[in-house]
Amino acid sequence: MQKLEQLYEGKAKKVFKTDDPELYIVDYKDDATAFNGLKKGSIEGKGVINNRMSNFLMTIMEKAGVPTHFVKELSDRETLVKKVTIVPLEVIVRNVAAGSFSKRFGVEEGTELKNPTLEFCLKNDDLGDPMIAESHITALGLATREELDNISRMTMKVNEVLKAYFAGIGIDLIDFKIEFGKTSDGQIILADEISPDTCRLWDSKTHQKLDKDRFRRDLGNVEDAYNEVFARLGL
Ligand code: TMP
Repeated sequence: MQKLEQLYEGKAKKVFKTDDPELYIVDYKDDATAFNGLKKGSIEGKGVINNRMSNFLMTIMEKAGVPTHFVKELSDRETLVKKVTIVPLEVIVRNVAAGSFSKRFGVEEGTELKNPTLEFCLKNDDLGDPMIAESHITALGLATREELDNISRMTMKVNEVLKAYFAGIGIDLIDFKIEFGKTSDGQIILADEISPDTCRLWDSKTHQKLDKDRFRRDLGNVEDAYNEVFARLGL
């Protein structure tokens, strides 16, 4: 597999073309941003951890019946993935109140929710990733009704499987963000990444934060937190 020209550089990953028109290579960086890129920094070794961890979790999702972009891990930081057009939505599930949910509704962080919540944000940094209603999504043609139903169903499955998996290693899955992509034959599959950049993960006993909130909120020991999750996953 030949790595050809760079197609795109995001905040945490670069994407390259390959000699197969249906496959891309993603290359995970150590760069970290928060607040739509306003806060910039770096988390040493993050790219390696997120690459491995995301591939491991994507494989678990495949086994649970959720199709993903994952094809093959190529190196510490590089993974071969299916070419998709990203559906410009951040799909967020919450099991416990935290972050913007706590702020928006005035609910204390750590409050258990009576059911998992599902919300969509428009993926657009310039607009600050605004929340978007399902009727807005279909009205704007970002996804059809059927695609959105499929995305919602897959997302709730991801929550169920991920929550149970993390519970088994003493971690509470507070919330997470995932993204979906569309293949050239129109299939919607799980894309982007699942990592401590995109999930809130709290130690089940101590409630210590083991995710990117340590960077966002300047809590210190950022690398240690990523390494801890990596180690608990046995990676
Ligand atoms: P929020 O509480 O800030 O809305 O975040 C909800 C979840 O989404 C949390 O697990 C962090 C994740 N997230 C991202 O992955 N990317 C983002 O740009 C934001 C704002 C949140």
